[in-house]
Amino acid sequence: MVMVSPSEHCLLTAARAASRRAYAPYSKFRVGAALLAASGKVYRDCNIENASYGLTVCAERVAFFNALTAGERRFVAIAVVSDGAATPCGACRQVMAEFAPKLKILVADAKRRGPVKTFLMDELLPSRFSL
Ligand code: THU
Repeated sequence: MVMVSPSEHCLLTAARAASRRAYAPYSKFRVGAALLAASGKVYRDCNIENASYGLTVCAERVAFFNALTAGERRFVAIAVVSDGAATPCGACRQVMAEFAPKLKILVADAKRRGPVKTFLMDELLPSRFSL
């Protein structure tokens, strides 16, 4: 099992809480994300689905867009919680890498306390597209 620091543990707790606010009536797949900005502020958000399925936005991107609109530009880590501890989708990886190429990603199962998987952005999206 991967050891997490006390602050990472808090981030995972925040992501768990955020997943309960998911709007996921179509997939029933609830995802919570807690994003730690370099400012120290934590942005906790969830996936938001739509009857027009393609308009769905993942929890990770909601958290990033929320933080970005609040003026944040530098990020330390993101915790993502869902059933089965799903890793972030490709679209979210590209969005996260734009702002946080060194981001630490912690992934945990919503139903179990551990184990927690950790990744660095480079592992999840090597050779990302950039201009
Ligand atoms: N989802 C996320 O929130 N994050 C991901 O990285 C992958 C998928 C959401 C989108 C949709 O509401 C549900 O999970 C099923 O795909």
